[in-house]
Amino acid sequence: MHVMNVSAPIVITIDGPSGSGKGTLSQMLARHLGYHLLDSGALYRLVALAAMKNGTDLDSEDAVAHVATGLDVIFSLENAGSAQILLEGIKVTDAIRQEAVSMAASKIAAYPSVRAALLDRQRAFAVAPGLIADGRDMGTTVFPAAQVKLFLTASAEARAERRYKQLCTKGEFVDMAELVRDIRERDERDSNRAISPLRPASEAVIIDSTAMTIDEVFAKMLAAIT
Ligand code: C5P
Repeated sequence: MHVMNVSAPIVITIDGPSGSGKGTLSQMLARHLGYHLLDSGALYRLVALAAMKNGTDLDSEDAVAHVATGLDVIFSLENAGSAQILLEGIKVTDAIRQEAVSMAASKIAAYPSVRAALLDRQRAFAVAPGLIADGRDMGTTVFPAAQVKLFLTASAEARAERRYKQLCTKGEFVDMAELVRDIRERDERDSNRAISPLRPASEAVIIDSTAMTIDEVFAKMLAAIT
């Protein structure tokens, strides 16, 4: 007999490198389906920012894992649905997106004990009716039993260009060549780390968004889900 647990939340994982459009598309899908959203990258960024703020040595895995375990964070929805992130009661929604935090997040994400400290916190997001889980290892490590697994990618140049435009609109000006270098460096680190490296789950649907518009990718993702 085929027994189905009807109350189990549906989990859709979206993994891929930074700048692939995962964040925007995860938000669009969550809104469209009425699902919860886990931005797991934000958790690694929050650990990095919290560590930077309190002077923790980023080279010390134990010290950073301690910060991850005690992370005091609230994800709240306000302003007509736009998510706000509070770290120890202070709004850090924009602060965690700074380049320095991106680099630090990628560094501390390679520590196994930091990843372990964040595991239960991530799994707790899977509540009914469903979850869109955005990250690097959602389909491989955090939610291996997810019903749908998507992997979104794009060339490093296309991703650097998107990030450049995003930073410009925020008034943060960076050198394009430096951005491509940073992205490659982060890709390298995310893909080659020993624990939970960035790679598609064997059953993932892979979508290359290099030459696609957001709407085209959204349609493709919906088709993969339904
Ligand atoms: O996705 P985002 O760029 O916000 O992630 C920030 C950093 O956190 C990434 O560079 C990556 O190293 C790390 N990360 C991770 N595993 C995840 C999500 C993010 O290692 N599931």
